[in-house]
Amino acid sequence: MSEVDDTTLSFDDYDECDDPRPDPTEFSVLAEKAMSRRGFLGGTASFGAAAFLLGTSALTSTTARAAGMWLDFQPVPANTLDTVTVPDGYTWHTVVRWGDPLWSRGEAFDHVTRGTGASQELAFGSNNDGMALFESQGRSILAVNNEYVGISVAFANRQSGRPETADDVRKSKAAHGVSVVEIEQRGKFWGVVKDSPFNRRITADTPMDITGPARGHPLLRTAADPEGRVALGTWNNCGNGRTPWGTYLTCEENFNYYFSSSDPNTERSPDMMRYGVGLQDRGNAWAMTDERFDISKHPNEPNRVGYIVEIDPLDPASTPKKRTALGRFKHENAELVVAANGSIVVYLGDDERGEFLYRFISDGKFIDGGDNRDLLDTGRLFVAKFSDGGRGEWIELSPQTTGLSSQAEISIRTRQAASAVGATTMDRPEWVAAHPAKAEIYCALTNNKNRAVKPNAGGDPTPINGPNPREANIYGQIVRWVPENEDHTAKGFAWNLYVMAGNPTVHTDANAGSKNVTAANMFNSPDGIAFDSRGGLWIQTDGNYSNQEAFAGHGNNQMLLGDTQTGEINRFLVGPKQCEVTGLTWSGDRRTMFVGIQHPGAKGDSTFPGGTGTAPRSAVIAITRDDGGFIG
Ligand code: FEO
Ligand code: CA
Ligand code: CA
Repeated sequence: MSEVDDTTLSFDDYDECDDPRPDPTEFSVLAEKAMSRRGFLGGTASFGAAAFLLGTSALTSTTARAAGMWLDFQPVPANTLDTVTVPDGYTWHTVVRWGDPLWSRGEAFDHVTRGTGASQELAFGSNNDGMALFESQGRSILAVNNEYVGISVAFANRQSGRPETADDVRKSKAAHGVSVVEIEQRGKFWGVVKDSPFNRRITADTPMDITGPARGHPLLRTAADPEGRVALGTWNNCGNGRTPWGTYLTCEENFNYYFSSSDPNTERSPDMMRYGVGLQDRGNAWAMTDERFDISKHPNEPNRVGYIVEIDPLDPASTPKKRTALGRFKHENAELVVAANGSIVVYLGDDERGEFLYRFISDGKFIDGGDNRDLLDTGRLFVAKFSDGGRGEWIELSPQTTGLSSQAEISIRTRQAASAVGATTMDRPEWVAAHPAKAEIYCALTNNKNRAVKPNAGGDPTPINGPNPREANIYGQIVRWVPENEDHTAKGFAWNLYVMAGNPTVHTDANAGSKNVTAANMFNSPDGIAFDSRGGLWIQTDGNYSNQEAFAGHGNNQMLLGDTQTGEINRFLVGPKQCEVTGLTWSGDRRTMFVGIQHPGAKGDSTFPGGTGTAPRSAVIAITRDDGGFIG
């Protein structure tokens, strides 16, 4: 894959290069095209004039939106500037950036070398993504995922633009994982509390307990860990979750890109094929110094990643736990709610074209102030099946329903289990967000250029269906559902699309988008979504920022605020060049919103946030209202 330019390919594009999907037969193409016309017309007709907006009869609102509560800002026009743009009356500043030292013994970021292994181990990681702020005894502890390393940015000091030495690999592994960092507000500005006892780096080498059904399973046993109980590290941590007992959940997503084989004749197992584990290095080069990333020698290592990891952000000595009961796939985020019966329900997306949407229900009940530590170890895992008529159901993944041998095996081969029950192949489920005041859940389906074009990695067809109504979907949509009886543990649900992104200035068909998409608010590829405490839906994008042709007028990636009752969506923020906007949390007093700016200058054309002559650096920014008012 050395000829592949990592600066222009998405994670999924890599998958396509290394693990091409079977080409459909001529018959299946014709059949899917026929289905697509019927399916799409049927889908639109069923919503009538509401044009994809859920009718009020399907949802009973328990709270009313106070007039002007969220949308009282002047929307920001799309732009392609190399900075962050927020509405008049709001101000942003940088809190922490890739490479900022968290301890006073750490070195300041070097814009020429872009750091060393030693400096990175004491510094904020790269490409921040999901995050959550924890308040404890008047202190503010921010836990932030550091998803991956932009190879050409981090190794711009190397002739090849790639890691070349053992120290380069050390730097790369240390730039991944999670940064836990105390922050404080000095005057108007938030910044890092260097040397705080809470500061911690969790990296690709941090020991973690494997817990839940798969703990000790033969598929998890390796030469270094013959009992299959302790894994080293977490990487490619995308979205996040937080529990009501005060812990942080980090979600392992494209974990497969870090493995390679020293033997080109290694035969990949069906498990490796389904999860996109390939033979060729994808630029991270971790196997150069760490044999566990060589699948010809350690074929079980990939089975030890792809989980939800629980971290206690207030105890720097605690051991992170890989919670295998929540399944193994390319996890996006983990949205927790407490069901009426006290069970913890976790909604989970698998972000790959044609993969699935999941739900976990804990056996144990949440008790406020009780011992909730291991609630995520025992429970039942379900996968969503949507029907075209606005209904859907959760199918339990058990040995009886899937034919797999045990719950442990289902926890490891989760994708295969979901395929076995005929779950709905989705347009890349990204973040899930639950409304804070009613039983209503949203999931961003970011895009899927393979919809009705190619099957998923398991060979499951991806016909136009249910909440995936567009062939070769380049814009994405947000689906929402209400569980039967407003009970998060119920089998059935009613669903609808909240928005279909598009471009009404270019298209007049379905690619124009739903009714609530206009020339003034258009965007593509919704990804991070989160509700604020008042029920406003914040939508962050990770899409095409070419600003040309099908994406003309979309500008840079952005963040919008949606009213889920009226469907109204307004653009609140535009990010700098070539960034993705991802990760969102608030200060305890809700007067500061923290937003993640990831991979500015992914294609070499940004100096955010430092300006001319500096390296582009991912960063967490803080946004406040100039009048000191609430912001979410
Ligand atoms: Fe890391 Fe699916 O985004
Ligand atoms: Ca994402
Ligand atoms: Ca994305």
